[in-house]
Amino acid sequence: MKELKIYTNTAEETRALGEKIGSHVLPNMVILMEGDLGAGKTTLTQGIARGLHIARNVTSPTFTILKVYHGDMPLYHIDGYRLEGISQDLGFEELLDDDGLTIIEWAQYLEELIPEEYLRLDIHLLEEGRREFAFTAHGEKYEDLLEAIK
Ligand SMILES: Nc1ncnc2c1ncn2[C@@H]1O[C@H](COP(=O)(O)OP(=O)(O)OP(=O)(O)O)[C@@H](O)[C@H]1O
Ligand SMILES: [Mg+2]
Repeated sequence: MKELKIYTNTAEETRALGEKIGSHVLPNMVILMEGDLGAGKTTLTQGIARGLHIARNVTSPTFTILKVYHGDMPLYHIDGYRLEGISQDLGFEELLDDDGLTIIEWAQYLEELIPEEYLRLDIHLLEEGRREFAFTAHGEKYEDLLEAIK
């Protein structure tokens, strides 16, 4: 399965979706998240962290750019929002080679980081509370992941 659309009506439903994703991800995976401010990128990441049995509360990495959490595997949570127009080597490439899960919010500002294979997610704000999560798999292991969470 290359594309999958899932709808949620509350932040908690979004976290439950994230938890399912977190319980099926494999080491070395990369998830790119796009969507307006408040779309639900960090909320979904909180659920993914839950699925990885990360005890710490996941908060927006906007001001720190990178946050690292430890669970079943490391979670590297990167937020590119503050990096618009700033092209510089932050050394994040190493993280992508590590046996963790890398989640990048606002990945369009970190284009040089985008690997050959990844899961892309576009989040759309529909009416109040309702969100569309449109996943596109780039690579076979991500197609398998979508199969597992559909
Ligand atoms: N169905 C839903 N899914 C996710 N969040 C929802 C939903 N309905 C309402 N919300 C609310 O929308 C907000 C989403 O904020 P969140 O920080 O996850 O967005 P974001 O995409 O990470 O934004 P930013 O670009 O600023 O980092 C939260 O306040 C959450 O409670
Ligand atoms: Mg966020």
